[in-house]
Amino acid sequence: MGKMRTQSAPWRAAAVLASVLLVGGVAACGNSDTGGGGSKDDGKITMGFSQVGAESGWRTANTISIKEAATAAGIELKFDDAQQKQENQIKAIRNYIQQKVDVIAFSPVVESGWDTVLKEAKDAKIPVILTDRSVDSADKSLYKTFLGSDFVKEGRLAGEWLVEQKKTASGPVNIVELQGSTGAAPANDRKKGFGEAIAANPNLKVIASQTGDFTRAGGKQVMEQFLKANKQIDVLFAHNDDMGLGALEAITAAGKVPGKDITIITIDAVKDGMQALADGKFNFIAECSPLLGPQLMDLAKKVKAGEEVPARIETQETTFTTEQAKEALPNRKY
Ligand code: AHR
Repeated sequence: MGKMRTQSAPWRAAAVLASVLLVGGVAACGNSDTGGGGSKDDGKITMGFSQVGAESGWRTANTISIKEAATAAGIELKFDDAQQKQENQIKAIRNYIQQKVDVIAFSPVVESGWDTVLKEAKDAKIPVILTDRSVDSADKSLYKTFLGSDFVKEGRLAGEWLVEQKKTASGPVNIVELQGSTGAAPANDRKKGFGEAIAANPNLKVIASQTGDFTRAGGKQVMEQFLKANKQIDVLFAHNDDMGLGALEAITAAGKVPGKDITIITIDAVKDGMQALADGKFNFIAECSPLLGPQLMDLAKKVKAGEEVPARIETQETTFTTEQAKEALPNRKY
């Protein structure tokens, strides 16, 4: 007590200054009530985004869309490439929580195993937007919304087209499937949708199915194995264009004519895939749009402002035959 009474004037001034800084500091760390857990409420939005990687033409177009849209919307983007690893995504999300960004968005490399880190974001009051791919968390309050395609539908559209093409087939139609990365939502869902659709015709049989990791190199390598192991392959269903494009090389090297000897169905409709379709090397593509950036930035603004957003926002997509690809190619944006 005595000591406090005998503080010198400079000491007292320093103590006052310290307490002002302390109060200011605590206030600055507080979460805003507007849904954004950001460190400051200066009207600016900082988004932490964790991208899957750079495995495909689709992914490159998606990254460009997000970066360009952030700039156009005046949102500061912290971007991390997880190089296909869930642990890298979890690390990036934890960093964004520590940095007190306003919004976290990510495209989950696999569907499972997100509950802990999503709970950490929720506890820090930082809203999370799932982009492109979803998670299998039972607790839907762990994220604000999921913006992306209906992958089951894409697989179903691919399967329905094949059912229609082969409706007069009197014998077995041997199908090989190049799956996307193991555990990824588009791989699980496209397989499911395609399988459900082709069940309509018992002649249609998937005789081999393996992951090609959504990459051209993976598609080529696995297709080579398929061709060695199976005498008669009638159809290839590739979960994305890139794997289909890789498979083209293997098919040609095996002396077969892609699009004729083997019917090829893919998903995405990126420019290279559309060119292969227009050239008759692919036969059908179900579209999956990577241009999610503008909608994502819009959602970020809304959740930061505390506005309600729909729990699910589905991307509008179509399908392409060779004729339709020829028509669409000149104006294709990705
Ligand atoms: O999640 C979307 C999928 O991921 C795309 O179809 C594929 O090309 C990408 O790598």
